[in-house]
Amino acid sequence: MRPSHGIIACLWLAAGLAPGIARAAGNADSFPVNKLGLVPQPRHIRAYAAKWSLPPRLRIAAAGAADRRMARFLERFLNKRGIQAKIVATGRVQITLATHADNPQLGRQGYRLAVTSRGAAITANAGPGLFYGLQTFEELFNPALPADNAIHQVVITDWPRYRWRGIMLDSVRHFFPLPVVEKFIRVAAHYKLNRLHWHLSDNQGWRIQIPQYPLLTKIGAWRPNSSPFCGPPAPAHGPRYGGYYTQAQIREIVAYAQQRCVTIVPEIDIPGHCGAAIAAYPWLSGPRKGGSLLSPGPQTFRFLKTVFGDLVSLFPGKFIHIGGDEVNVQAWAHNPVVQKLMRQRHWTNLQQVHDYFARKMARFLAARGRRAVVWNDVPVQGLPASAVVECWNSSRVVKHDARWGHDVIVAQTGKLYFDHYQGDPRYEPPAIGGLTTLRETYNCNPSSLLPPALKNRLFGAEGCLWTEYVFSAHHLFYMLLPHALALAEICWTPLQEQRYSSFVQRTARQYLWLRANGYNFRTPPPAFRFSGAGGRTTVTRHPSHNSIHIHTTSLTGWVRLTQPVPGAMIFYTLNGGYIYSDFYSSPIRVTLAPGKPLLIRAVTIDPPDRTSVPSNLVLQLAAAPARAAK
Ligand code: ACM
Repeated sequence: MRPSHGIIACLWLAAGLAPGIARAAGNADSFPVNKLGLVPQPRHIRAYAAKWSLPPRLRIAAAGAADRRMARFLERFLNKRGIQAKIVATGRVQITLATHADNPQLGRQGYRLAVTSRGAAITANAGPGLFYGLQTFEELFNPALPADNAIHQVVITDWPRYRWRGIMLDSVRHFFPLPVVEKFIRVAAHYKLNRLHWHLSDNQGWRIQIPQYPLLTKIGAWRPNSSPFCGPPAPAHGPRYGGYYTQAQIREIVAYAQQRCVTIVPEIDIPGHCGAAIAAYPWLSGPRKGGSLLSPGPQTFRFLKTVFGDLVSLFPGKFIHIGGDEVNVQAWAHNPVVQKLMRQRHWTNLQQVHDYFARKMARFLAARGRRAVVWNDVPVQGLPASAVVECWNSSRVVKHDARWGHDVIVAQTGKLYFDHYQGDPRYEPPAIGGLTTLRETYNCNPSSLLPPALKNRLFGAEGCLWTEYVFSAHHLFYMLLPHALALAEICWTPLQEQRYSSFVQRTARQYLWLRANGYNFRTPPPAFRFSGAGGRTTVTRHPSHNSIHIHTTSLTGWVRLTQPVPGAMIFYTLNGGYIYSDFYSSPIRVTLAPGKPLLIRAVTIDPPDRTSVPSNLVLQLAAAPARAAK
């Protein structure tokens, strides 16, 4: 007899196969799903007021080796919460983890999770699904109360909207040591992102050891100082800034990511953005030394085959990024190697040299069973069909490149570039420019960029964290979080389940998780809501000034201020200054006078040391409609 089977069967009945059963189990009162604070929001979920209190000692069933590996994550998590867990293959258990490929709807990444009064079960068709089920299970626990191990009973059936849920880390403009990269992967994986696009070479540095070309890391990995604008790497004595990952470290990080279902997509950016490689081996740019553009001679391709050959052996994932962005082809015009090539091949424009690089390297990778990823600057016509296009600077190209038969990834600058300002530049840390608010990222809908007939070409989306202005891990996570949570939700949750106000409410629990796990994040500034005594109210947002402007016909009303971080406080001022003297504890009563706009400025203070940027509300009496009509 194997009693665990009885428990699983019971869980699955409770899990919604027969709705009456859940009620029979005594948990009929439903619980508002938003209050669970899950991010990303699962596809199908029912939650109940009743809870399951985990006992201080319990047993986890995990039969195969892969399930046991996942169970060890759970064991560590439970241990941290004071629960002793034992992993067993069979017998009487409280938690079951199981993979059996019998539910085509779930795919490889979906899972079912049921928590009843007697235990929990996570099942999936494959390892990634089990991992994501585990992440959701862990989210049911309050991160701020490690001794509280009573969780709501739920029934969840979940699978992702997109298969490519990417986040890009630029380790070139600033170098991040291995523990920081691991921490980056940990948070990405927790929110069910599954691709780390790792930018490893650029003008300002070369970050991966290639034994056959030792100067890449001896010279190319180091520049005169920490500023990415200080010029390319150069042989130097004395202080210098940089670093690189050894091949042993790369293997370590690949394994670390793999355990967390994250595939690393390394990028060596060619043929432009190659200043660091050229600083190490000046012949890479041809007879005219310097610059940042590779010369298309045989020596260069020998070099590239070695480099990409090493990537193929170090990174087991299917995808390797070959860059291809921002190539100033005019810089090739006076290169005799280019001139000769163009004569031989009867090319008429320099763009064909760019195509040549991309085509040659994409084919090189295809012959090794890998798929090249290119930035959309590369014209796709000559690429092998297996090449995937990452579209960053124009939503039009998404459609165009998909039409040419390529799978596409959406990384729209205005919405998914996390190196932009997140609010008013006067208060934010220096950033590259632009403005990408959390709301804007959340409102990104990659599917809308493709007509229905091409939808199956959409792999998914990716957030890009370039680091020209990001010089520390603390700052890195400020830029990443909570934007990455919005990214995770648009990539995972079906569109019809996405709602910004619900997302903001659910982030409350996530700020606790981030805090408990040592992540810096951008403290959200307060949001305003005005309720007037009647009449008409119009709201205009000015995200570049963190402000909203409300015109109302109501002479009096109430202003409510909210922020989602548990334990944080709101302070405000009504005098237009920057001394936030008033502690917000209840709605503010306001009385408006004609011609006298009221400014309320507020900040969130998250003890002990986080203060948000200020947000502003300008409240103004609207002109009476009758007068406006005259
Ligand atoms: C890019 O932002 N240059 C891809």
